Amino acid sequence: MERRALGADGPEVPAVGLGTWQVLDVRGREQEQRHEVVRAALEEGANLFDSSPMYGEAERVLGDALRMHGREGAIVATKVWTPNDREAERQIENSLSYFGGHIELYQVHNLVAVGRRLDTLRRLEDEGRVRAVGATHYSRAAFGDLMSVMRNGRVDFVHVPYNAAETSVTEEVLPLAEELGLGVIVMVPLGSGRLVRNPPPQSELGPLREFGVETWAQALLKFVLSDRRVSCAIPATSSTRRMRENARAGEPPWFGEEERRYVAGLARR
Ligand SMILES: NC(=O)c1ccc[n+]([C@@H]2O[C@H](COP(=O)([O-])OP(=O)(O)OC[C@H]3O[C@@H](n4cnc5c(N)ncnc54)[C@H](OP(=O)(O)O)[C@@H]3O)[C@@H](O)[C@H]2O)c1
Repeated sequence: MERRALGADGPEVPAVGLGTWQVLDVRGREQEQRHEVVRAALEEGANLFDSSPMYGEAERVLGDALRMHGREGAIVATKVWTPNDREAERQIENSLSYFGGHIELYQVHNLVAVGRRLDTLRRLEDEGRVRAVGATHYSRAAFGDLMSVMRNGRVDFVHVPYNAAETSVTEEVLPLAEELGLGVIVMVPLGSGRLVRNPPPQSELGPLREFGVETWAQALLKFVLSDRRVSCAIPATSSTRRMRENARAGEPPWFGEEERRYVAGLARR
């Protein structure tokens, strides 16, 4: 995979980051433990954090963790998500306040009011408060609209679903991203947990050991990261141990086509 920077002199995007949907949407005593997950991610260099105002408390909890453990070392990739212009301004103000007045990658969540939101995000970029701009969608049915946005030249990154059991993004979206030179963030690399619930026996991972794979989750992450069009995968986890395990999948050697087919076969059992 190719490493990608955010803008000309911006920070390099890591291979593995942390998704915050559900796992950082916590209150009370659970927060301290999730701050430790963020700390583990920073320590492992898995320093891209994807969030959204749609994820309940997640942005606030992430902001608190980064204030404690190192905002300067983080790449925050959050989103704006509303058809209402006034609410969009409110979401943006909130997010900027959580993350110290600047956001590395600002994305339009699910393409909601995408034209107007990109106008605003590009203005924030001109003001130096945002480094790069992106658009996300989770649904194959929206890939046509997403590709129109990509072709209009208004985004630096796209953020799409991709895993060993769901590869529809490889048909048109990834080839277009490559042609246009756009960064690609991968959501649901573990199938929202579905693909790790019943892992294959350890013995089945034998052929993948020489690629540094110790666990099934790492095999799934490496499947995605071995596609050189992918910039970063953002598995969500509530566990510091699994955060470190996931980060280790972000190192070469990468799979070839044979290993990718093998992992896809295991995932579809
Ligand atoms: N823009 C969009 O429309 C959109 C949509 C969906 C997701 N996203 C983003 O993508 C991120 C990732 O997607 P996702 O959260 O749906 O699912 P995911 O990352 O594919 O899977 C997360 C699940 O896998 C488990 N897990 C993580 N690492 C593991 C490991 N090493 N071993 C075993 N289990 C492991 C987690 O459980 P534990 O907590 O127990 O570890 C969690 O239940 C989201 O958090 C969000 O930031 C964006």
